This record gives sequence, structure tokens and C-alpha cells, in this order.
Amino acid sequence: MEVVITPDYDAISRHAAGIVARLLYKKPNAVLGLATGATPLGLYRELIRLHRQEGLDFSKVTTFNLDEYVGLPADHPQSYHRYMWDNLLSQVNVSPSRVHIPNGMVRDMEEYCEWYEGEIARAGGIDLQVLGIGRDGHIAFNEPGSSLGSRTRIKTLARETVEDNARFFDRDEDVPRHAVTMGVGTIMEARQCLLLASGSLKAEAVAATIEGPITCQVTASALQLHRDAIAILDDQAAGRLKRREYYEWVFRHKESWLR
Ligand code: F6R
Repeated sequence: MEVVITPDYDAISRHAAGIVARLLYKKPNAVLGLATGATPLGLYRELIRLHRQEGLDFSKVTTFNLDEYVGLPADHPQSYHRYMWDNLLSQVNVSPSRVHIPNGMVRDMEEYCEWYEGEIARAGGIDLQVLGIGRDGHIAFNEPGSSLGSRTRIKTLARETVEDNARFFDRDEDVPRHAVTMGVGTIMEARQCLLLASGSLKAEAVAATIEGPITCQVTASALQLHRDAIAILDDQAAGRLKRREYYEWVFRHKESWLR
């Protein structure tokens, strides 16, 4: 895994946006896998800026989101549908027909999840998947114990995740306990993965992901097997890495072999 350590959150966002923008310049009809949560907000702000000020074009882009809460309608203020439209999609020129966000309200989830996987395949697969990481090392909502070969399905959220999400809901009992989520296997098929992490609360999960064993107890650790995964961290999220000096050394010297 390539590890990029930046000074702060804004630098993570700019670095990640640069990678997304370069992809879109090279492949205007790219398929993007998108995440929600606090971490990618800066990336989305930067993409909106690039769209407005530098004409970054989303008109041919297809998007697939990682996950959605089960039981929240698309127009619920805390749904990931709302999050995506408020924080990115309504502010760039993406075509709504090319936006895919899992539907947490369908009756036959098994059939629906199979269809969602099929849509990703029919779009040609995901070129670049944006990922955040949970304190328990989850990617998407693949909580500890999720199979590293898993596909899109319903997952019961871990207590830690429910607690982390509680700040967005008025009452604890309103916090969803289930999500429909891409599996680790689905994510691993993306041609490139960008894992973003900011802040000391993520430092332990980040260290386990990058330097720990590959284990379903830290589903992000599966990315060690991905041929093109980049972890973009800030100083605090990198705080528990043992080989930090090496990653910084590699980054400093990258330019010379790219020339
Ligand atoms: C969201 C998602 C989750 C979050 C993770 C980190 O679509 O898939 O895995 O990326 O829970 O959330 P934040 O960024 O809020 O710390």
C-alpha cells in the first residue's frame, strides 16, 4: 500500500482531489466509488471548487456509493442520499441517471444487492474507490468479522459505529442499526482505492490496517492485497505507524523514479 502522510486535513483533501481530477482528465467517463462520513467532505469541497473554477467535468462520470442506512428514506436528513446530493452531487454537473446510491428501503434486499453488484459490473467496474475508515477498522460498513470476500449485503452495525453515528440523530433509538453496504470483495475489485484518514482517533485503526496482519477483524487491512491502494493520512492519523519514516522517505523520493 502506498502511504502518503500530509500535514493536515486540508492537505489530505487536496491530495485526494488531485488524484480524482487527474483520473477525470484522463478518463472523462470514469466510474467513481464514493463514501460518506466526515472524512471525504474536504475532498468533495475541493472537487466542487475544481469544477467551478477549473471546469472539472462530471457530465460523463458514473458514481456508486458504498452504503446507505436501512430504513431511512432517500429524503431523510441523515440518509446518505441526502448527504451525497447536499455535499457534492447537486454542485457538480453529474447526470442524476448515472448516480447510484444503495436504497435502504427495498423489500427484497437480497435481490436488490445482486442488482447493485450487477450495475457496477455493467458500468465496467469502479475505477477509483474513495474510502474512509471506522475506529474499528471498517471500510464501508464491513464491521469486524465481515468476510474479506463479502459482496453487497445488509450488515448489522457495531456498537462503536452506532455510537459514532449517534451525534447525527436527535434520539439514540433513531440511530439505524443496519446498513446496506458494498462488501470487502466488491471494494477490492475497484481498480484503485484511496483510503482517507484524519485525526488521532483513527491512528490505531490506520496502523492495524497498514502494518498489522490481514484480518477480517480489521476489514481495511484487506487493502494490503490490493494492487493499487493509497492511504492518505494526516499527521495525527499516522501517529501510530511504526514505519512512518520509511513512508515519508518513499514519498520524497517518488518524484525521482517518476521522471
Ligand atoms: C461511509 C462509510 C464508512 C465511513 C467510516 C468513517 O460511507 O463507508 O466506512 O467512511 O465510518 O467515517 P468518518 O469519515 O465519519 O469518520
